[in-house]
Amino acid sequence: MGKVYAILGDIHSNIDALRVVLNDARSQGVTDFVCVGDVVGYNAEPAECIRIVRDELKCPVVRGNHDHYVSYLDTNLADFHPSAAQVVEWTRSQLSERDIKWLHDLPLRRPVMGFMLVHSTLDKPEDWGYVFDNQQAEANFSYQMTPVCFHGHTHVPIVYAHEAHGVVHYEPHDFTIELGQRLFINVGSVGQPRDGDPRASYVIYDVASRQIRFRRLEYDVKTAMMRNRIAGLPERCATRLEIGR
Ligand SMILES: [Fe+2]
Repeated sequence: MGKVYAILGDIHSNIDALRVVLNDARSQGVTDFVCVGDVVGYNAEPAECIRIVRDELKCPVVRGNHDHYVSYLDTNLADFHPSAAQVVEWTRSQLSERDIKWLHDLPLRRPVMGFMLVHSTLDKPEDWGYVFDNQQAEANFSYQMTPVCFHGHTHVPIVYAHEAHGVVHYEPHDFTIELGQRLFINVGSVGQPRDGDPRASYVIYDVASRQIRFRRLEYDVKTAMMRNRIAGLPERCATRLEIGR
């Protein structure tokens, strides 16, 4: 049987969204998981999300900027917005030394079975640049040697394609990858979508049939918001989940 990957990104400590996504993936015939980073940040269950990704899924993961801020203890939090610094410090307080070392040691880019994973973009991934347009995607393609690379970071699902006349983009839709195509696919965010749709987002990639499917799933947003409030995280971490921004 061929491999069917679920590509998860920007889980951001949202255990309610993650559990719904994992159940859906298993019901959709997924055989393997990969993660494009930002396992932690913003929400209330960082340790449990790390445990699931590291110990249950045991999947290839790349480091996101929030994984980095939490685990590189020389990160200068004085440069951060006070509420962002608060979330980083709170997240650190919830994690074991082993958890922090695991985040710290994640690679910035990672090849998997003929495709690539990166959190932000393959050109200088350590700068955490956002890809919001075709020009920014073009810079990535100069460093992309595989037909497909999956990424996250903006929390907005989208498909960039490198075509003969330049880079174009497509809204999320289900399609079959054609031979010769070069694609840079943003899988959206499991735990904090920002495209105005609060449902959890991830992508399924069936290697044998070359099919890409974008999945959106309702989950218990109210419970996730309540967890954030009980944890004492900034109020915006709760309210933004409801509106998907
Ligand atoms: Fe993120």
